[in-house]
Parts: sequence; structure tokens; C-alpha cells
Amino acid sequence: MKAPLTRSELITLDRAHLWRPYTSAEEHAEKDPLVIARAQGPWLHDMNGRRYLDGNASWWVSNLGHNHPRITAALTRQAEQLSHCAFAGIAHEPGVLLAREMVAVAPKGLTRVFFSDDGSTALEVAVKIAFQYWRQNGRPQRTRFLALGGAFHGDTVGAMSIGGIAAFRGAFGPLLFDTVHVDTDNGFERAFEALHRELKENPDPIAGVVVEPLIQGANGMRMYPASLLKALREATRAADTLLIADEVFAGYGRTGTFWAVDQAHVSPDLLCTAKGFSGGTLPMAATLATERLYDGFRGGKDRALMHGHSFCGNPLGAAIAREVLSIYRDEDVLGQVSKKAKQIAHAFEAMASLPKVTGTRALGMVGACEVGEAGYFGQRGWRIFEEAKKRGAYLRPLGNTVYVAPPLNILEGELTQLLDIVHASIAATA
Ligand SMILES: Cc1ncc(COP(=O)(O)O)c(C=O)c1O
Repeated sequence: MKAPLTRSELITLDRAHLWRPYTSAEEHAEKDPLVIARAQGPWLHDMNGRRYLDGNASWWVSNLGHNHPRITAALTRQAEQLSHCAFAGIAHEPGVLLAREMVAVAPKGLTRVFFSDDGSTALEVAVKIAFQYWRQNGRPQRTRFLALGGAFHGDTVGAMSIGGIAAFRGAFGPLLFDTVHVDTDNGFERAFEALHRELKENPDPIAGVVVEPLIQGANGMRMYPASLLKALREATRAADTLLIADEVFAGYGRTGTFWAVDQAHVSPDLLCTAKGFSGGTLPMAATLATERLYDGFRGGKDRALMHGHSFCGNPLGAAIAREVLSIYRDEDVLGQVSKKAKQIAHAFEAMASLPKVTGTRALGMVGACEVGEAGYFGQRGWRIFEEAKKRGAYLRPLGNTVYVAPPLNILEGELTQLLDIVHASIAATA
């Protein structure tokens, strides 16, 4: 057998052949990546034998930690039976049962489940359902979406169009469809007032309003109260248009409740989920819809939703997504969150007194602070990232927003360790 490649051989090959996400060619050429050999629970283990607490649950995905033994077992069991088959004209047990279980945990009224691959595709599906629904149900003028400035809904063209972060949209402006973004620079109260105004004064072209409920993740972990979401739900009902909740980041307990919309006691018309949905193991996503929407696609072949993906309803993904739901039940994942949420909130409050920290905030299993003015392209966050690496945590920032969003089942002692590292790393760059 050939000897495994060394770390430096892997990095050389990486530089020769890979194209990395959100990474400049210079950064790719100059900065050594962490080379991860294995992971367990909240720990990433590199090829040098060092380990790092995964401060962002690997891009907000591994909510149950890495390599949860029950997920691995479910994956293996399913792989021995059926790894893949098409989902059109074919049914299989994991897909069907997962849909039933999703409806059971979903906010009331969401009774239909469409599977896709990741957060971006879950949003693409929601946008296409909304658009086609109005087109074939007597309101073809409803072609525009309303969204918040600073929103992030993914990187595919439709998801980017409804997204509102210049850093991600900037290069693609002419490619994107027109979306009404209300300004969030002067706070969420004002932004929601603007949404209300649009819905009241000019509802006719609005196919739907898309929001990340309670927290804008990629926009620097910006949080807003549930009351704003509740009032928005009422306004979308008054305008008889659709509310689309992007729970890709916020769902599966990240904000303290299973869905973030639960805190506002509202049900959207469409709900998108991904990331934690498949327990950080396989790409899999779902868009949930109401029966009203599904009914709008009855009436013949030419009224069907013309959308699908090769891996739609993939049995491996479906089997592990089912296992994820039963782990949430059996291990009382949400029950453990409230104490750890307080721990995060206290730790970030304490960081407010560190030099040049301009704001701190926390919600559920997220804590964040601003470490400088320059926003997404700020550099201090990256110095803190390097300091945290030395101390044993992976703390990829959003520019000058430094945050934690660890696995929900991280142990309290490990969480203390992570929060201490954040504090010390910020202090070290003062
Ligand atoms: C709120 C939200 N929606 C959608 C997405 C896109 O998900 P994906 O990266 O799986 O396509 C993200 C990704 O971070 C997200 O935070």
C-alpha cells in the first residue's frame, strides 16, 4: 500500500488544483490551511496532532457535533440498503418518513416538503414556488420579492438576488433579478417599518417577503426581536402575500427554539431548512410549503413545479435527517441549550469591556462582538482568528465580527474553554 500523503504534500496539491470558496488566489497561495484529518464532537483534529474547538460548527452545519455515532450508524445502515435512486416516479421509505416527520415538527400549516441539496437550493425552490404560484393563480403581476438589506440567502443566482450583502452580490449585479431591499443600516425597527410601508402601499407586485428569522447570520450575526417578525406575518397576511422564512442557519435550535419563527409564534407560507437538517453529514435541504400553495399547482402537467435535482430526496441524506430528528428528541438537545445560551450571553457581555470592542450580542447558541469598524473586509477579526488557532479554536470571523456558533451539544466545560479562547484572543490583539 502507498504511504499516505504528508501534510505539506497535500497543501502543495491543494494549491495546484483547488479553487477555494471566498478565498483570493493570493490568500490561497500564501496562507497554509488547517489540514483536518478527523473530527469528533466539537473537536477538529489536524494532521499535526493538534485539536481545535469548532467555534462555528463548520459553517453552522454540525449542530450535533462531528461524527455523531448514531448518525454514522444510520448512514451505514442506509448505505447497505439503498444509497440513491431518482425521486420522480419513485418513492422510498427514508424520504417518505422524513417528510412525515418534518411536517410533524414544522410550524402549523406547513404540510408539504420538497427536498433539495443545500441552503441555496432550498431558497431557489421557495422563490420558484412563490413565483409560479402567483403566475398560475390569477396574479401574474406578482413577480418581485421584498427582503432585508444585509440578508444572506445563498450563492446561487436566485438566492443571491434576494440576498442583500454587497460583498457577495457586488460582482454579479447585472445577472441578478430585481428585488426590493429595505435598508437595515438604521436598525431593524426602521427596516421593518419600511417593509410594512411597501406591503401597504404597493402590494400588487410582491410575490413574497423573505427573511432570516431573528438573526442575520452572514451579515455579522445581527439580531432582531420576535415582535418584528410577528407584526410582519400580520402585514403579509393583510397584503395576501407570502412570507418565506429562511431557517437554514436559525433553525434546528440555533436560536434556542427548534425554529426561530417559534419565538414569534408564527407560521410562514414557505420555510427553508438545510445545514443542521442533515446533521453535518451530507448536503441535503428541504423547502416546506402550505397546502394552499400545493393546491395552486393542481390542474395538469403544465401546472407542475418544474424543478428537481439529481439528488432530490437522496435516501442517505433522508435517513440521517430522520436520525437527526430522533437525536434531538432522545438527547433533549434543545433542553440543554438554555443553560449554555446564558453562558454564551454572559461571556460576550464580559467581552464588551475589552479594548476596541464596539458591541456585543447573543441569541441562543450564538454570541458575537464587533472588534472594529471595517465590517466584512475588516482585518482585526482575522488576527483574532490566528490567535484563536494558537489557543486551540477554529474561530473564522465575518470580517470584524467575531462570533461563536458551536455545536449545540458541546459540553459546558468545552464551551467555557471556547469562550475563554475568544476572550483571550481578542485581548491579545488589542
Ligand atoms: C440564512 C442562510 N440561508 C441560506 C444559506 C445558503 O446555504 P448553503 O451554503 O448551504 O447553500 C446560508 C448559508 O450560510 C444561510 O446562512
